[in-house]
Amino acid sequence: MRKALLLTSVLLLSILLSACGDSGDSAGGDTGETPFEPITYAARFKASQFTEASICGGCHTDIYEQWQGSMHNNAMEDKLYQGLHALASKETNGAIDAFCTVCHTPIGTLSGEVPPLEGPDISDNSRDGVQCDFCHTVSGSTGIGNASFEFDPSDTKKGPFDDAISPFHKTQYSELHTKSEFCGMCHDVNHPINGVALEATYTEWKNSPYAEQGIQCQDCHMTPGPLVEKPNPGKAATMGPERPHIWTHNFVGGNATEMADENHQNMAEEQLKAAAALSIAAPSGAAPGGTMQFQVDINNKGAGHYLPTGLTEVRQMWLEVAVTDANGKQVYHSGGLDETGNVDPDTVIYQTIFEDEEGNATHLPWEAVKVLSDNRVPPMGTVSEPFTITLPADAALPLTITAKLNYQTAPQSMVDELLGDEAFDVPVIEMVIAEISAG
Ligand code: HEC
Ligand code: HEC
Ligand code: HEC
Ligand code: HEC
Ligand code: HEC
Repeated sequence: MRKALLLTSVLLLSILLSACGDSGDSAGGDTGETPFEPITYAARFKASQFTEASICGGCHTDIYEQWQGSMHNNAMEDKLYQGLHALASKETNGAIDAFCTVCHTPIGTLSGEVPPLEGPDISDNSRDGVQCDFCHTVSGSTGIGNASFEFDPSDTKKGPFDDAISPFHKTQYSELHTKSEFCGMCHDVNHPINGVALEATYTEWKNSPYAEQGIQCQDCHMTPGPLVEKPNPGKAATMGPERPHIWTHNFVGGNATEMADENHQNMAEEQLKAAAALSIAAPSGAAPGGTMQFQVDINNKGAGHYLPTGLTEVRQMWLEVAVTDANGKQVYHSGGLDETGNVDPDTVIYQTIFEDEEGNATHLPWEAVKVLSDNRVPPMGTVSEPFTITLPADAALPLTITAKLNYQTAPQSMVDELLGDEAFDVPVIEMVIAEISAG
């Protein structure tokens, strides 16, 4: 049974790849072949059965403000998402569309309003991406990953309290909402045909010391500061009681681009800066004309999963290293940006790279048949990078070695290619910097 499934997957994928080749530059639609049975979800309800977020915001003022401008709110209208979705759609002749939309706009997909992602009939509830009433009417889950949520768009809002009384809706305690398994329904993405792990944030967490210590996603991503910061006393609703701890709804990750609002951009920067520690170790051979060696250690001290995590075939984190001599002359530099805003190609980038059917490296998730490489930093773990540098004969001692750890949501070249005229500048966030002198 398993074997047969695998075989079909291989077959389907090779058809998928030949379809990509055929479709050329056409805008998709009905030209190329459909690579596999289109993935569909039965329309189970109307989007209007959910309450709009702005109405919840009438009483849950702070929570609404926090969620607005977050990547959950922007999950459908996010330009980078739309750009990659459009390419995936074109290359699979639309067969993968609903798979992509089911997490980025669950209401849109399960009401049949999307795909496609444009049209006059798409309601605000769908456009709001992952919104209040969707999350708070999730009634259970069938497991982890690939949108394994069960839901019941009803008047009963499920949450962490067993004693909440609201004039607007019924309330119900839900243990699921207090656990990482809730987030894991969407924050593990497996290839819909061959099952390759495309995003594995939940699984990374599950295998980490954080899971062992009972520290959930919510403890870092639904608390005020960048790391675990509890308690956060306050009110969950303007007319509600004062409580010892309220969960925030900023859902801050690493997105400091214009797709998040300014407040979220600043918080993402703060979160990235709290994620890692950097040190330069064991410099040797610091002499004019000599061969200098040293090592840079990156420690993932703050993320409850690999660093980076999520869409790691697209994200890039890398070291920028410079050596200057006593006269301030730069004698070595790597990991800088060129004039087009792209990282110099020899730089080691910490990310996942997939292999496609033909054995080539690819960063397009739907082409993946296996993980080719993954050099990211494990939770509470360290990755070391060795450097060997030939120094100029006139280098003046002592030397200063500076290392920076940088993060970018996506390579500039990818954003330019996917979005054309709509492309935006992808900020480079300096996560942490280390400096020592040698010689
Ligand atoms: C008229 C005001 C009002 C509106 C509108 C409102 N709520 Fe509430 N809600 C409350 C109050 C009051 C509480 C109780 C707060 C407490 O006990 O701390 C509450 C509690 C909750 C809880 C906690 C339930 C639990 O048992 O843990 C959730 C979840 C919730 N609301 C979600 C929503 C969602 C989603 C919407 C929009 C569909 C919404 N609320 C609209 C007033 C409102
Ligand atoms: C991605 C899913 C998700 C979205 C979107 C979301 N919530 Fe929540 N919310 C949660 C989870 C999970 C908890 C409980 C966290 C815990 O107990 O660990 C929670 C807690 C709450 C609570 C209980 C009080 C608190 O904050 O501790 C209220 C009220 C609430 N949410 C209202 C809202 C409203 C209003 C919106 C939209 C503006 C919203 N939520 C959007 C997942 C979500
Ligand atoms: C219904 C699916 C769904 C659920 C459930 C869900 N998320 Fe998300 N989450 C998404 C999607 C989709 C995105 C990506 C949006 C984008 O960048 O376009 C996202 C993005 C994020 C980000 C990244 C923001 C950034 O700056 O890059 C964080 C952090 C996050 N979610 C945390 C959580 C946590 C914590 C939970 C559980 C309490 C949770 N999510 C539950 C779908 C979900
Ligand atoms: C100990 C705190 C901690 C825990 C626990 C934790 N995270 Fe994170 N998370 C971070 C930090 C710090 C970052 C920023 C660095 C990075 O991007 O990895 C982050 C980043 C993210 C991002 C954005 C990644 C990117 O680069 O696009 C997502 C999505 C996310 N976390 C989801 C989750 C989910 C889902 C869980 C639970 C399964 C979880 N996190 C558990 C601290 C935590
Ligand atoms: C099982 C749920 C799920 C499915 C299915 C899914 N995604 Fe996502 N997607 C997510 C989550 C969760 C994140 C946030 C991870 C992170 O921040 O790194 C995300 C992030 C993204 C981002 C990054 C957005 C940004 O602003 O940085 C893009 C682009 C994206 N997804 C495209 C796609 C495409 C294209 C498909 C279909 C081939 C797809 N996704 C299918 C859950 C899903």
